[in-house]
Amino acid sequence: MYNSKITGLGYYLPENVVTNDDLSRFMDTTDEWIQERTGIKERRWIDPKTDDTTSTMGVKASKIAIERAGLKKDDIDFIIFATLSPDMYFPGGGVRVQDMLGIPTVGALDVRNQCSGFIYSISVADQFIKTGMYKNILVIGSENHSGGLEKSTRGRGVTVIFGDGAGAAIVSRSNVNGKGILSSHLHSEGKHARELMLDGPNTGRWVPEIIAANDPDDESYYPYMNGQFVFKNAVTRFSEVINEGLNANNLTKQDIDMLIPHQANLRIAQFIQRKFQLSDDKVYNNIMSYGNTTAASIIIALTEAWEKGKIKENDLVVLAAFGAGFTWGSVIIRW
Ligand code: UT7
Repeated sequence: MYNSKITGLGYYLPENVVTNDDLSRFMDTTDEWIQERTGIKERRWIDPKTDDTTSTMGVKASKIAIERAGLKKDDIDFIIFATLSPDMYFPGGGVRVQDMLGIPTVGALDVRNQCSGFIYSISVADQFIKTGMYKNILVIGSENHSGGLEKSTRGRGVTVIFGDGAGAAIVSRSNVNGKGILSSHLHSEGKHARELMLDGPNTGRWVPEIIAANDPDDESYYPYMNGQFVFKNAVTRFSEVINEGLNANNLTKQDIDMLIPHQANLRIAQFIQRKFQLSDDKVYNNIMSYGNTTAASIIIALTEAWEKGKIKENDLVVLAAFGAGFTWGSVIIRW
């Protein structure tokens, strides 16, 4: 059996910076409220005048990751694309990236696991590498949230949190034992699907029906989140799944060199940091600058931490996420 390791990382963020004060110009919110509850100072939202989309941002991040892995596009033998905000209802973003990068006709898989999308995608890539089926897999997480958020006071509980951006990682075959991706741990609890969702349009209630109803109170085509319920579940599940990953590898919290939590809310990350008694240099957060970029958040944070030299050879890196579904998971890496 082979091992797999991350050999290239990249990210792309739209240039357009939206501060909390910018938001307060079109909804009843304040910089103070947003920073106190979430830690977010600003986020990037796509300027519709640019050509940025979920797929094109994914392509820009991928080019960087492929180059840093020392590969050519033709070396990629599979694509995994995680998003909750695809350019089209179908097909997904994977095939768009395959086309835009000009990669020959390799398989392209879309993953719909929201904030856990990158964790699930890395896990899938890891299995394909370990069985020997593929050698170099391009994993992408990308989100265009701003196109689908409700930009008014009614939507403020959700809208202020989310930002746009993309990240990409190359997962490659390695023959070195005990290094690279050690394990991944995935969970779901679908009974809470309606606590964090975008309900419509769906196949039970399609676009013409929504338009015909012309109901100004219809919020079904904007994201809904039961914030406090999600928060409580997140802190519990983050802790459980990090411990599960450590236990599976006979490791303890003292072994963690770098924890990259999904950037959902700085308060959640700080809670986990305290619980695992990690010093500030062992947790990487960037939600302050980018908001919650869902499937892209962990890859962007991992790339930034690596670029800043905060992740070194042989470090134990723990990735963990929780989000809509509910779904959650962790990945344990010996760098
Ligand atoms: O990434 C996927 C997973 N997502 C998460 O993990 C997110 C988890 N949840 C959260 O991060 C927090 O619940 C939020 C940041 C979403 C909300 O914070 P909260 O402390 O739970 O606030 P709340 O929803 O309980 O609202 C408290 C008050 C309400 O007013 P009243 O009813 O007390 O008068 C809201 O209407 O704050 C009001 N509020 C706002 N006020 C100013 C809600 N959003 C805003 C806003 N600006 N943007």
